[in-house]
Amino acid sequence: MSTGSLLAADLVIAVLAAACWLGGGAASTARRRPLALGLAALALVATLARAITITALARAGWWFAAEKVLIAAPLSLAAVGVAGPRLLQAPRDIRAVAVPLLFAGYATSSALLVTVLHGYPASAGAGLLAVAGVVAATVITGRALGARPRRTVSRVAVVVAGAALVTGTGLTVAAGATSVVPHDHGYPVARIAAEPTRRFTLTAGTTTVNAGGRNVAAWAFNAQVPGPELTATVGDVLDVTLRNRDIERGVTLHWHGYDVPNDQDGVPGVTQAAVRPGQEFVYRFRADQAGTYWYHTHSASDVGVRMGLYGVLVVRPRPVTGVDVTVPVHTLAGRSLPAPRVERVEAGAPVRLRLINTDSTTHRYALAGTAFRVAAIDGVDLRGPTPLADTAVLIPAGGRYDLVFNAPTTPVALFVDGRAVYSTGPVSTATGTWPVLDPLDYGARAPVPWSRVDKTFTLVLDRGLDLRGLLPRYAHTVNGAADPDIPPQVVRLGDVVLFTIVNRSQVVHPWHLHGHHVLVLARDGEPAAGSPLWLDSFDVRPGEVWKVAFRADNPGMWANHCHNLAHADAGMTLHLMYS
Ligand code: C2O
Ligand code: CU
Repeated sequence: MSTGSLLAADLVIAVLAAACWLGGGAASTARRRPLALGLAALALVATLARAITITALARAGWWFAAEKVLIAAPLSLAAVGVAGPRLLQAPRDIRAVAVPLLFAGYATSSALLVTVLHGYPASAGAGLLAVAGVVAATVITGRALGARPRRTVSRVAVVVAGAALVTGTGLTVAAGATSVVPHDHGYPVARIAAEPTRRFTLTAGTTTVNAGGRNVAAWAFNAQVPGPELTATVGDVLDVTLRNRDIERGVTLHWHGYDVPNDQDGVPGVTQAAVRPGQEFVYRFRADQAGTYWYHTHSASDVGVRMGLYGVLVVRPRPVTGVDVTVPVHTLAGRSLPAPRVERVEAGAPVRLRLINTDSTTHRYALAGTAFRVAAIDGVDLRGPTPLADTAVLIPAGGRYDLVFNAPTTPVALFVDGRAVYSTGPVSTATGTWPVLDPLDYGARAPVPWSRVDKTFTLVLDRGLDLRGLLPRYAHTVNGAADPDIPPQVVRLGDVVLFTIVNRSQVVHPWHLHGHHVLVLARDGEPAAGSPLWLDSFDVRPGEVWKVAFRADNPGMWANHCHNLAHADAGMTLHLMYS
């Protein structure tokens, strides 16, 4: 069983256990004896079954099990210890076991709440809060049901609960009291001296565009979705003027995957102020990495990108030869872009399809009718890519794959999630059952370019309750905290930095570090065995543990976030900074 399914199974069993204990307690107060005993027996089994799932999770990694071992397991033991013996005595009046059963219900529920609302790392505060909740609820229940606990017992319980509540809350609040990320500083812009060789102007504005045959409201660059395709040849100096006509939330340009100098990175509040309606900002940088990239607004990025503020950036090593097509896939108002394109291609012609996923979720791409190679991922050429056929690729949010082949005499077609987006003629192949390429063992290996690691960081991705803003929210968290309370990662110029990224949530998190490509070292303990993979966007699926490394060679303050932009907005953003 994969760690992801274990996490899901453990959650289901925990919910079942809590529900059965509570149900059993309720049934016994209503004197429904068989129902009460049946539910209690089920609860007992479910609670004991968690010993198996929790042990398995702990073996997969402490991150997955910490709060379950430290908080859920002791509370479950207490539940079994208190309710079990009473049940075995099989009392004549089933009401006599109501309080023990409800106690067990409160204990398992509060442990469950710790997992769902707090997650990793397990803290003393969370544990104390959980215990306080159980004690308080049990005392109140006992009173309500007229089961008189001895005076001293209930006094002690109340004091423990109160103290735990205070300490727990205090710890929770104190943990994130300081945020070091400076906001709204002066944003010094170090213009590069060279004369621009490629000039573009992008004007952001609200508009209406045609998507899949229907007019839909959009936010667009130069009134088109995607925005104009920006192309350059290696060595060009790009000069891009961004104007904002009427986007109230502000706009910026972020060059996704392009490792530009920090002041050109387009992150509002970090590298520049957002460009407000009527304002403009000029970006200038040298195009010294060839490859497939894209640009998008980073101001209110979730809604901004979704509404259409994105476009393609392609830097070619030399002027185009052969067929070179970009396929930026996007979902606009529920409609899939781009519109299908059919093109005649001469047999034998070299073709490069540049696939770009500009959505917030993974897409599946299948190229039918020809063998092909994956020449590059995230703009970086792969080493020794071998021919593939009848194989699909999964591209994470923000990611790019370049597929290359020589046009056969028969038609080829590219399908995205089953929909043909590009073809050279009619193709009716069913691609839904094709296996999916694992890039971690595709192509030829090369040694890792460093023999040391100077800094290591672990990022545990999860969900949790965030009480630090104006309104409480169920945030997407990193190490139990949400933006802006996640401590920045501090590195020095030249450091070799290792990230361990752990997903203990139930959803995929496409990870994206600005300003650097990271080299994939391992996934789930398995070393990467194919071509070196230098990525800027990679899917960390539920239960997965990725190890990636990079050299800190681009000073500044960089966003480091989930590229499911709704998650990024809901807390899953932190910063990497140079000391
Ligand atoms: Cu494409 Cu910070 O994002
Ligand atoms: Cu995410």
